[in-house]
Parts: sequence; C-alpha cells; structure tokens
Amino acid sequence: MAVKPPLILFSTPILLLLSVTIRIQGHDFAIEEATIENIQGAFAENKLTSLQLVDIYLQRIENLNPLLRGVLEINPDARVQAEEADRERRSDTHGRRSFMHGIPVLFKDTIATNDKMNTTAGSYALLGSVVARDAVIVEKLRKVGAVILGKASLTEWYSVRAIGKIPNGWSARGGQAQNPYVAGADPCGSSSGSAISVAANMVSVSVGSETKGSIICPADYNSVVGIKPTVGLTSRAGVIPISSRQDTIGPIARTVSDAVHLLDAIVGFDPRDSEATSEAAKFIPAAGYKQFLIKDGIRGKRLGIVRHPFLDSLNASNVTTFESHLDILRAGGATIVDDFEIANIDIISDSAKSGEMMLLLAEFKSSVNDYLKELKVSAVKSLADIIKFNNNNPDLEKLQEYGQDTFLESEKTSGIGEKERKAAENLEKLSQDGIEKVMKDYKLDALVAPGISLSMTVLAIGGYPGITVPAGYEGNGMPFGICFGGLKGSEPKLIELAYGFEQATRLRKPPFSEPLDITREFIFAAV
Ligand SMILES: *[C@@H]1O[C@H](CO)[C@@H](O)[C@H](O)[C@H]1NC(C)=O
Ligand SMILES: *[C@@H]1O[C@H](CO)[C@@H](O)[C@H](O)[C@H]1NC(C)=O
Ligand SMILES: *[C@@H]1O[C@H](CO)[C@@H](O)[C@H](O)[C@H]1NC(C)=O
Repeated sequence: MAVKPPLILFSTPILLLLSVTIRIQGHDFAIEEATIENIQGAFAENKLTSLQLVDIYLQRIENLNPLLRGVLEINPDARVQAEEADRERRSDTHGRRSFMHGIPVLFKDTIATNDKMNTTAGSYALLGSVVARDAVIVEKLRKVGAVILGKASLTEWYSVRAIGKIPNGWSARGGQAQNPYVAGADPCGSSSGSAISVAANMVSVSVGSETKGSIICPADYNSVVGIKPTVGLTSRAGVIPISSRQDTIGPIARTVSDAVHLLDAIVGFDPRDSEATSEAAKFIPAAGYKQFLIKDGIRGKRLGIVRHPFLDSLNASNVTTFESHLDILRAGGATIVDDFEIANIDIISDSAKSGEMMLLLAEFKSSVNDYLKELKVSAVKSLADIIKFNNNNPDLEKLQEYGQDTFLESEKTSGIGEKERKAAENLEKLSQDGIEKVMKDYKLDALVAPGISLSMTVLAIGGYPGITVPAGYEGNGMPFGICFGGLKGSEPKLIELAYGFEQATRLRKPPFSEPLDITREFIFAAV
C-alpha cells in the first residue's frame, strides 16, 4: 500500500550517468525514452536486436542501480530469452508475434516467476523459497515473447509489515530505493522499483500491483504512466496477495501507449482467479485496448472534478497549475463538471472509519497464508512464521527501526467473520452512494484529480480503475501527475483521456537531463 512516510534525507549522491546511442550499420538508435513502437521499428529494420537491447539495459542497471536500487534481481536467463526472441523474429515469416515480443520487462518482486529468480516481497523470509509455477501474467508475457529482465524492488511486504514505519521503497533485500529526480525525495510505493527503473530507462516497461495507491503513487512521484486496472481485469494468481477485493496488477511505463501494449498482453480470464477475472472479462474489447490510443480522445468527454478533498492539500499556485490542465482538457473538447461532492467522502478517505483497514488486515492474513501454502519450498508457511523469522533476524530485517506492528495486528485476526463481512458491505455501499451515484447523476465519463488522492480513496475501496500521466515538476524538480479514474471497465475512456492529455502536453522528461558525466558509444556488429 502507498503510505506517506516521514521523509528520509540522504546526502546528495553523485550520479554516474550513461548516455547510450547505439550505432548499428550507420544508424543511431537512442535508448533513452525509446518506446515499444520505436523498438519494434528498430527490430523490423534490423537496426537493433533484443539481445543488444538487453545488454544496453544491463549496462545501465550496472551503472545506475547501485544508487537507485530499483532493480532487485537480474534474470540470469534474460540474454538467452532475448536471443530466442531474435531467432524467432528472423524465422518468423508472418511478422512479429506481438508488440511485446523481444521487449524487456521487469516484475515487482511479489510476482512469482518459476525460474532462477526469487519472489520475496523484498523480505529475507522468502529468500530461497520455490514457487509452484509462474504467476499467470508472467506466463502470458512469456507466451508473447517478452524478455523477463528481472525483479523490481518495492516497499517490503507492500508496507503491510509496519504501515507508516517502513519508508516507501525500502526493503531488507533491496535497501532504500531512490527517486531518480530529487536526491532523497520520496519514491513512493509500494511498486517503487517498477516506477524508478522505467523512469531511469533501465528497462522498457514494468509490472506493478496496487491495493491502495501502489501503482498510481510511485508512477506519479517518478514521472511515469501507471495503469491501475479494474480489479479482475488482470489475474492475481501467483502474486503475493493482500486482498482479493482490492488487489490488481498493472503496467508502469514511460508513455500511455507502452502501458497499453503491456496491458493488452496481460488481461483476460484465468481459471486460477476465476471469480474476479470472469466478472471483469466482459469489459475486455475483442480488439484489445490499443484502439483507444487516439489523438482526439478527449473530445466529447464529461469529466468530474471533486474539489473536496482532492484539491484540499494544494495551495493557490498548485491549484492554478491544475486549472491550466483543465483548460487543456477543455481545449481538447471535454466538458468539465466542477465542484460537486461525493457522499461520505470523509469516511471513504479515512481507512479506519470506513472499516477498510480492519478488513484489509483480516484479508491479508488469510490470503498470504493461502499463498505460502502453495509454495513448493519455503522456510515460512504462514504469517506467524514470517513474524517469527523477523524476530529471529532483527538485524537483517531492521526490526528495531521499523518493527512489524501491522503484521502483529493482522496475525490477531481470524478470517472473514461477521464483522469483516459487514465492513465489506459498508465499503460496497460507500461506492454505490459515492462514485457510482455521481458518475450517473452527472453523466460523467471519468473523474480527474491531481496527484494520488483519488487512487488512495474512492478507486481503492471499490476496485475501480485509474491511470496517472506525468503532469509536470515542482520548483525543486519533484514530479507530479494527473489521475483519471472511473467506473469498472471504463479503461477505454480512461486510455483515451490519458493518451489525449499526454499527446497535448508531453510533459515527461527523463530524470538525468544535466550534462552527462560519461558518454559511451556502443558499437555493435551488423545485425
Ligand atoms: C535467489 O536467491 C538465492 C539465495 O537463496 C541466490 O543465491 C540467488 O542468486 C538469487 N537469484 C538471483 C537471480 O539473484
Ligand atoms: C505549495 O504546495 C507545494 C506542494 O503541493 C509545496 O511544495 C509548497 O511548499 C507549497 N507552498 C506554499 C507557499 O505553501
Ligand atoms: C506549488 O506551489 C509552490 C509555491 O507555492 C511551487 O513552488 C510549486 O512549483 C507548485 N507546484 C505545482 C505543481 O504547481
């Protein structure tokens, strides 16, 4: 879960930077900000191979990751997979297999890969454990020829070990991941490494997960696009869980179109997560989501603004910035419906009052215990075992500093009883009387809000989708985003809006725009 932690300050790091332009057969291919379409184009014209691409990213990881700590593990088989993709492309007379073919992808370290890598939620408790199989989304990406580059760092156990105490982006195995834009700034979490690695061009795209803000927030803080899909649009089978009501797996990318190509590859019904995915499968368009990447996507949309509480934390000049973004949306043909309220929004925004936190703690214990039982090999088989492991390894897990308060609270719960069922019903009702009602009453296509508050509240409790797009930088260089959210299955509209806003503004900048300390040129042999 994304939490606002105390800010930790680090001494300003000296960045060792690396600019890569590869020169193959006299053509330049710029790796920085390369999109999936750029890469597929370069593959098709024999300007680049997947193996070369993997090598460039591995080089950047070697240079940047000791500082940024966005990557937790590198897949020892990444180069082999890339060579395989290159071979397939050469022998494929019908053209490439998919947009993701030969594209390097990084997975949050809670997404199981049945290979030489570990799946640990950043914790030593799961190091060396063996999963029974790939997570379903990993299996899907393997099938379409994506290259699994590695695992991304995260806030350990999604911060559920000690909410508010574990700093965003910290895990025992990964150390403190860093925001690449502002030294010592919050990278947010819990999909910290997924966002940082994409932002710093250490990989093409990555996969994160969100229960309450964990894709939208790190994407927002690291100037990348994050899609939080409707719960069930993507299978959660094989992903370390918190809550089947709220968990969702989604893309983090530098552009809306990259995120959408990844989304297209991972959505769909899955018998191993059948209830949620069969419910959501009806939303998936037969031709996929890339048809909604249209320049004129803003035109005709009705967008709702909920000033309280989503603009409350902004001061006057920040509101002016947001208003200028609304003007861009108006200029693109949207109607802005302003200043209505969402019923009970103060309860929705307070996870203690709404019952959300109590319910999540009960759901976490029972679902994580189920996950652990499925492991083929593991030193820990239950939440109780993990707590014991932390107690036995206080230094490794920085137990003195961060504790495990939330684990202890969760361990006290005993499944989904009457109280939990009531809380779930209450959250359902808050959504019906809240977002469902205003969307209908005001005939809205989407809600739009600055920053992360929409995803932390309304979208979280009801399993609703959201997309964040880079929207600028504070005076100190800290990125911020704009978030579009809507009803279940409204991804087509959200993609149209996000893509339209991105194309109209193009605000994202890579983190290292200063003169580069090292400029290296890779000269590759002809493909
Ligand atoms: C997985 O963990 C083991 C320790 O149990 C370690 O030796 C191995 O290098 C890890 N795998 C990768 C790919 O880092
Ligand atoms: C305005 O808000 C931003 C963050 O939203 C903050 O960084 C800045 O210090 C605030 N400025 C004033 C004058 O309060
Ligand atoms: C928020 O306001 C502060 C000054 O009050 C300014 O430095 C900062 O850049 C503003 N941020 C945005 C997003 O407008």
